[in-house]
Amino acid sequence: MKPEIIQYCPLMPGLEAALAERFTVHRFFEDKDPEGFLARHAGAIRGFVTGGHLGLPPDLGAKLPALEIVAINGVGFDKVDLNEAKRRGVRVANTPDVLTEDVADLAIGLSIALLRQIVKGDAYVRAGQWLGGDLALGAKVSRRRFGIFGLGRIGRAIARRLEGFDAQIAYSDRVKLDVPYDFEDTPQALAARSDVFVVAAAASAETRNVIDRSVIDAIGPKGIIVNVARGSLVDEPALLAALKEGRIGGAALDVFADEPRVPDGFFGLPNVVLTPHMASATGETRQAMADLVLANLVAHFAGEPLPTALV
Ligand code: 8YV
Repeated sequence: MKPEIIQYCPLMPGLEAALAERFTVHRFFEDKDPEGFLARHAGAIRGFVTGGHLGLPPDLGAKLPALEIVAINGVGFDKVDLNEAKRRGVRVANTPDVLTEDVADLAIGLSIALLRQIVKGDAYVRAGQWLGGDLALGAKVSRRRFGIFGLGRIGRAIARRLEGFDAQIAYSDRVKLDVPYDFEDTPQALAARSDVFVVAAAASAETRNVIDRSVIDAIGPKGIIVNVARGSLVDEPALLAALKEGRIGGAALDVFADEPRVPDGFFGLPNVVLTPHMASATGETRQAMADLVLANLVAHFAGEPLPTALV
């Protein structure tokens, strides 16, 4: 008998095929009658495969008494209750490291896209507006002051890339780290000295809405915010209001509080670049993430140590 698992979101086709070979996979996200499914199968579900952006909703987890492992196809584990998993003896694994470069690349790409008006320039050419004159001037990226909020694996990779731009790099984290960048112990202080405020910290109860109006106002009308972490770190209504009122210069956002729903208010703004949570979305990285998801599940059901265990 193959172990039964829930697949909670679409995955790479190769991973879906590999899972189907080894497990009885229930494509829960396509189920028209989830309650009926749970009534029939909940007691047999031993594994749960999910995205970092979705995790395992607590009420669903509570309905799966035989659950042994949650395999997250992502590095973020903010949507999985690790304490509850520990308490229940449920293993949790994620996909660290393999996506670090891509997320850092997108943070740099979004910064350049906004400061150098790449998206606006593209629309300008397509609309034939160039014939009427040049696009207004953008702002330099090189030698700019960058503040990185969260200097973990991804934050450090962003900083390393910025060294190539001769940027002035500062950061905030829980503690001062042994790095050649200036430390600020509050997001407000970091914002006050940054032209580009990059959000790269993990989401948690502690960091929820930590980028609030006071931080946004400290970034100021000449500054921009770039978010490749999670929407929950930013007070989104406060950011939208500041963008509309010109209290912040711009925003380049890959993540949103209630994605994939994005407040319409952002759509009409000229000083934003919006992407659909795609920082890890390259073929190479998604393949490496898929390989790790499979490796963790296979190891668990073979009674071997998990390659990238969180719990
Ligand atoms: C993915 C992510 O988009 O790693 C994460 O935490 O948010 C992203 O890499 C997502 O997990 C895809 O399932």
